[in-house]
Amino acid sequence: MTILNRPRRMRESSFSRTLMRENSISVSNLIYPMFVIEGTGIRQDIESMPGIQRLSIDELVKDASECHQLGIPAIAIFPCIEKQLKTDDASEAFNDDGLVQRAIKKLKKEIPGLGVISDVALDPFTLHGQDGLIDKKGNILNDETVSILTKQALSHAKAGADIVAPSDMMDGRVGRIRKSLEENKFINTKILAYSAKYASSFYGPFRDAVGSSELLGKSSKKTYQMDPANSDEALNEVKLDIQEGADMVMIKPGIAYLDIVFRVKQTFNKPTFVYQVSGEYAMIMAASSRGWINQDDVILESLISFRRAGADAIITYFALEVARLMNSKQ
Ligand code: PBG
Repeated sequence: MTILNRPRRMRESSFSRTLMRENSISVSNLIYPMFVIEGTGIRQDIESMPGIQRLSIDELVKDASECHQLGIPAIAIFPCIEKQLKTDDASEAFNDDGLVQRAIKKLKKEIPGLGVISDVALDPFTLHGQDGLIDKKGNILNDETVSILTKQALSHAKAGADIVAPSDMMDGRVGRIRKSLEENKFINTKILAYSAKYASSFYGPFRDAVGSSELLGKSSKKTYQMDPANSDEALNEVKLDIQEGADMVMIKPGIAYLDIVFRVKQTFNKPTFVYQVSGEYAMIMAASSRGWINQDDVILESLISFRRAGADAIITYFALEVARLMNSKQ
């Protein structure tokens, strides 16, 4: 049989597969999300996220140093706040001496070269676990929430955060935060906007980690996070955040939303990040712990798919493990 075009020819040897490889993943594409908790010497397991722990600031600095040494450019920190500090008005969120603010200061002092991304949202600080303030009927108040988020972002910037990352999905928050940063001369503080954040059921383990799931109960976040059925709406959200001054935009969750990553990158050509969220982590860990899938291979395959879709960087709980793996192979 004469077949002129045999695509298998190029797949035949390792060297030619390497030469024609279109995308790559390296440690420099990874961001490691970390959970911080009050105290010293504390490393607390999170049941639904095996391998991930809540860390007190001293322990956080140790793992963050390893990230830096292995070449991970930045970490993202999320607090698990003590119950007695949670209030209806979330005022602990902008306490200049709060847990997050102290963690940022310590990280920037000890590891100045490591980028620090802070989460701007109220869910770790509210008694009801929602990302915003609520009225008597339980409706999320947009503009009142934006005022608190702006104070929170400014307080993170003052503590030394390199990037503030609003993950709340209120309208107009990126613009207000940008204005406040400019007015207070934080002209180099970057904004990573969680622009297309879906009302997803993949966030469950994260809510266990920051202690908001029991407070949230059966209530949902559907009045501010996006409907998983929509895609044009994501482009509109991204457009608004860019107009309001976002430096980077994010799509979240990851694997189930690769079409959104692709459309956003193609349309706007902005630094585009994706968040491989806690539920995605938990699924891979659960199946691989039973020996049903190969852990390292599945992790790397999921990461390359984000890059193929157009993501520049990936926030992933696998970042540290992957960095260790890649460094050991060099
Ligand atoms: C809330 C926030 C969430 C995540 C990051 N920031 C959860 C939520 O919106 O309920 C989820 C991250 C993950 O699942 O890994 N501000």
